[in-house]
Amino acid sequence: MNVIRRRPWDLPQRLATPAHLAFSRRTLLGAGLGALALAPAGVLAQRVSDVAKLPDPTSDLYPAKRNEAFKLDRPITDETINLHYNNFYEYGTAKDVAAPAQQLRVRPWTVKIDGLVEKPIEIGIDDLIRRMTLEERTYRHRCVEAWSMAIAWTGFPLRKLVEFARPLGSAKYVKMTTFFDPKMAPGQRLPWFPWPYVEGLTMAEATNELAFLATGAYGHPLARQQGAPLRLAVPWKYGFKSIKSIVQFTFVEQRPVGLWEAVQPSEYGFWANVNPAVPHPRWSQATEEVIGTGERRPTLIFNGYGDYVADLYKGLEKERLWS
Ligand code: MTE
Repeated sequence: MNVIRRRPWDLPQRLATPAHLAFSRRTLLGAGLGALALAPAGVLAQRVSDVAKLPDPTSDLYPAKRNEAFKLDRPITDETINLHYNNFYEYGTAKDVAAPAQQLRVRPWTVKIDGLVEKPIEIGIDDLIRRMTLEERTYRHRCVEAWSMAIAWTGFPLRKLVEFARPLGSAKYVKMTTFFDPKMAPGQRLPWFPWPYVEGLTMAEATNELAFLATGAYGHPLARQQGAPLRLAVPWKYGFKSIKSIVQFTFVEQRPVGLWEAVQPSEYGFWANVNPAVPHPRWSQATEEVIGTGERRPTLIFNGYGDYVADLYKGLEKERLWS
């Protein structure tokens, strides 16, 4: 195995510290979370390669045809960099969670669709994927921590899942939930997070053309650390909205409270749209570090996707749309 000790794309420690957690970093260190994130790496090396050998039941669907409508203004981030610079707190707060994340079992995987729908459904992930037409889309990804990447996702529009779910007219939001299994995810044994990870969108956001459910990246099924087997990509919002490893879509009337909003409501709101003019309470959002390049670029409002989404927020000027 190629173990890279110092990676050229490493950020200075100041930036690499998960910004979300700065408020409780001492608590985390006291509780030995660093060890939690790092210790399994060596131990799991064998299991990692064993799991990687298992064939993915949908691998024949990749690579999917690229949808050329979604253009980038920068090169796609190198896949190796993307695979070793992730936020997946279920597997620790380090950026390189590739090794511990291999504990995630991605089959069998059942997706539940419930709440305000004509009929609740439970469907196996492979059935769900095969009902959809997969396409590739290149999207920018802007983390609230002021870094960014550009990724070639494969998947299908969230709108297609909404159509499949047949929500009732009373449904106002879709709440999405990550798996919950502390035996499989050491991070979920940390009591100060309200596990499982939850995020929500309005129905208008969920059915917007850009909202995408990724099943793959870089021409093959998603790696575990990318949020296999099903994760959201909503590129006009800060990255924490793009929930990983989803097991449930619940159509609801009340606005869902996401995990980060529950942890720190003064810093992470429901809308979380990207806006360079509105700083996070503890840092500027004006620019972003483009991971893997050493470049710092100005951040664009709605992460450059205003043509697709700005209309969604007309008349909501009094809402906290930007954090
Ligand atoms: N989803 C779950 N279940 N757990 C997480 O820790 N992190 C979020 C989001 N979705 C997270 C999650 C954050 S903060 C970001 S920036 C993106 O996933 C990171 O996605 P990436 O690792 O593919 O870049």
